[in-house]
Amino acid sequence: MGKDVIIALDFSSKDKVMEFLDKFQDKKPFVKIGMELFYAEGPSIVKEIKARGHKIFLDLKLHDIPNTVSKAMAVLSSLDVDMTNLHASGAGKMMEGAIKGLTRADGTRPILIAVTQLTSTDQETMERDLLIKEPIDKVVMHYALTAKNSGLDGVVCSPLESQKVHEVCGEKFLTVTPGVRFADGDVGDQKRVMTPAEAKKIGSDYIVVGRPITSAEDPVKAYERCVREFIG
Ligand code: C5P
Repeated sequence: MGKDVIIALDFSSKDKVMEFLDKFQDKKPFVKIGMELFYAEGPSIVKEIKARGHKIFLDLKLHDIPNTVSKAMAVLSSLDVDMTNLHASGAGKMMEGAIKGLTRADGTRPILIAVTQLTSTDQETMERDLLIKEPIDKVVMHYALTAKNSGLDGVVCSPLESQKVHEVCGEKFLTVTPGVRFADGDVGDQKRVMTPAEAKKIGSDYIVVGRPITSAEDPVKAYERCVREFIG
């Protein structure tokens, strides 16, 4: 499983996505489809982008009872996505159900990663709203380890957590990290950011990059710069 740059296709409609992807011509970047685009356009958007030759991370963050998640994952797997995710707070049995549902008849399946605590949740919110009193770093690492023990391939995490996740869960356990910005770029609403080169140094396996590429004057150039800095 190689390192790669995943472009977050945070667009509201198919027309806007296709206009963006057309700029890449024969290049076929790994892309992330999130809830907004999926709920607006439905499964056909996944099939169409896949048919153009892109790898797809379908970011729908499933969280329900094990049986429901298992069946939903079977449907996502049939869309032939390359990576998908769920909330680790759904617990071990839900994650095991997800793996079962994702696994195709031939034994293959998309990469499955877990969201631990959302980066929008801080210590205070966790204690007040979720009644979890442990330090947030410990909670994140515990969720990552539970994900690993349930058969998952990795977690979505801040680049700042990549190293610790690898220490706790092993080097092969994948870290997929958003919050990436060029050294000379706009930070926007991201709080804790790293450059692609820094993310490489601390061992991120995949970086998810949205606006630094999608809002760039020349998105193809920005993508190529990202790949150069992250993969070399
Ligand atoms: O535009 P930007 O590079 O900030 O986009 C990052 C992408 O990663 C967005 O799709 C965002 O929803 C996603 N993401 C994130 N932080 C997380 C989890 C996902 O920025 N903790």
